[in-house]
Amino acid sequence: MQYETQVWEPTPEHIVQAAKLLRRGELVGMPTETVYGLAANALDEQAVAKIFAAKGRPMDNPLIVHIAHKEELGRIVREITPTVEKLMDAFWPGPLTMVLPRRPEISDAVTAGLDTVAVRLPSHPVARKLIEEAGVPLAAPSANTSGKPSPTRASHVYHDLKGKLPCILDGGSCQVGLESTVIAVGENSARILRPGRVTVGDLLKVVEQVQVDDGVFTKLEGNQKVASPGMKYKHYAPSAHVVMVDGSITQFCDYVRTHAQEGTAVLVFDREKSLFDLPVFTYGSFSDQQSQASRLFDALRQMDERKDIKTVYARAPFPDEVGMAVYNRLLRACGFDVVDLKNKTHVYGLTGQTGAGKSTVADLLRKQGIGVVDCDVVAREVVQSPTLLDRLAKQFGKDILENGVLNRQRLADRAFASKEATQLLDQIMFPPILQEARQQMDRLAAAGHRIILLDAPTLFESGADAQCDAVITVVAKDEIRRKRIMARDGLTKEQAKARMEAQLSREFLEQHSDYLLVNDGTPEQLEEQVLALAMKLKHPQLTEMGKGNRHG
Ligand code: TXA
Ligand code: MG
Repeated sequence: MQYETQVWEPTPEHIVQAAKLLRRGELVGMPTETVYGLAANALDEQAVAKIFAAKGRPMDNPLIVHIAHKEELGRIVREITPTVEKLMDAFWPGPLTMVLPRRPEISDAVTAGLDTVAVRLPSHPVARKLIEEAGVPLAAPSANTSGKPSPTRASHVYHDLKGKLPCILDGGSCQVGLESTVIAVGENSARILRPGRVTVGDLLKVVEQVQVDDGVFTKLEGNQKVASPGMKYKHYAPSAHVVMVDGSITQFCDYVRTHAQEGTAVLVFDREKSLFDLPVFTYGSFSDQQSQASRLFDALRQMDERKDIKTVYARAPFPDEVGMAVYNRLLRACGFDVVDLKNKTHVYGLTGQTGAGKSTVADLLRKQGIGVVDCDVVAREVVQSPTLLDRLAKQFGKDILENGVLNRQRLADRAFASKEATQLLDQIMFPPILQEARQQMDRLAAAGHRIILLDAPTLFESGADAQCDAVITVVAKDEIRRKRIMARDGLTKEQAKARMEAQLSREFLEQHSDYLLVNDGTPEQLEEQVLALAMKLKHPQLTEMGKGNRHG
């Protein structure tokens, strides 16, 4: 049946009229504090069937029954335990739905054949008045086409369902903006099936234990048995493909810069808007999770008004408190397509001029819990391989081996005799060293290291800098370095000079490094610089927040 759908001001007369329609088995668009609902008389199976038809909702996804007074709960559920009493007193009326054992009078059409029923007592005055006036409990899912973002304004309901119901009561925009928290209630405990405005912290003030169901953060397969059937469907999705990019704002910007194409847009927090010259959607403030909750669905709907947009990179909300609900919805809107930059392993190359203090820096960073791969150590291991020794002997003379053992001094004498010889040595040595270093870095990453230092005296010469997210270089004045290496390695002035001159220039190092440590002073001064650097590497967000504050 086709309706001439009307949008009504929620005057007392209109509410009486809408209630009449409900009693006659019709559907009504109903504002609640969370999202708009598509209401029908929960005791009328035919009316309930209309809900599924209008939304295109899968039949195995049960509905929430809405009541206007706590006393009505006893007519819907079999048992009201002391825990249920406590939860009602703390959160009703409000955005909490409890899944409880159902009475036989509640039809399979509402519960999708489950032995439980979901019930909630909304706080929105129009919803409560409508339920009261109708005189029956109302089954009401969110009033969107199945799979689309839930409606937070009457216009959203009209957009999705016009022609499929006689009227929508316009109660303005929904305050909460995300659907109610759905919990299964145990003895002095609750399990969150769908997170919402009522948070883990809120529930813990009332019950002793709160669990978060696996389905909240992980993808459930179509045939998997799930605590809350609604969580297994693709949901809230605009036509454009959404990708959630989880990381700091700097990481996000870098990612978008390298991935943007024609038809790319971003979904970011309000104040980040000016950072992009792409189409931008916003959803509230970074620090105010409730503002994100109330704006997310509207932002997702706005995307559908732009047919030219194919991909949207979305900033991830922080998933605690109300943010858990925001994250949960965005996760479904993007079909679980998440790019996790937060837990990415960052590799920092460490190099430096001879005698500048590179090894000291590596040791200090290691003490800060940073995983270090020392390419000198790697080289010493790699050079033990018989095939490599064989190649070296062919190139530099059989007598560099004595009883199969490498005479390092002899090899060094020959390899550093000319530029060409040095290049030949590098060509043989660099590839296996890099390969082994890569494996050691993978092992550190697998062991949980998120920051790895690749300590390599010839970082640039070997091309290993290309494998690094950033490069740290240690430099010092020539005079200071010469004294250090003469004392350390027992070199003459000329030997020290030759070694220093064989290296890349300070100018080159300064130009190609992201972090420069200048070790012209005391060991304490170096340590201070290294500690500040370690702080930056470990907490990029802190440095960013600092930046954000400076920009006001
Ligand atoms: O805020 C809200 O809860 C809104 C407004 C209109 O009240 N309603 C709403 O309904 O979001 P709906 O149908 O879109 O979502 C109901 C959720 C689904 O995830 C469903 O699977 C779950 O509640 N649910 C309903 N009955 C259940 C049951 N017996 N056991 C487990 N989960 C149930
Ligand atoms: Mg829904």
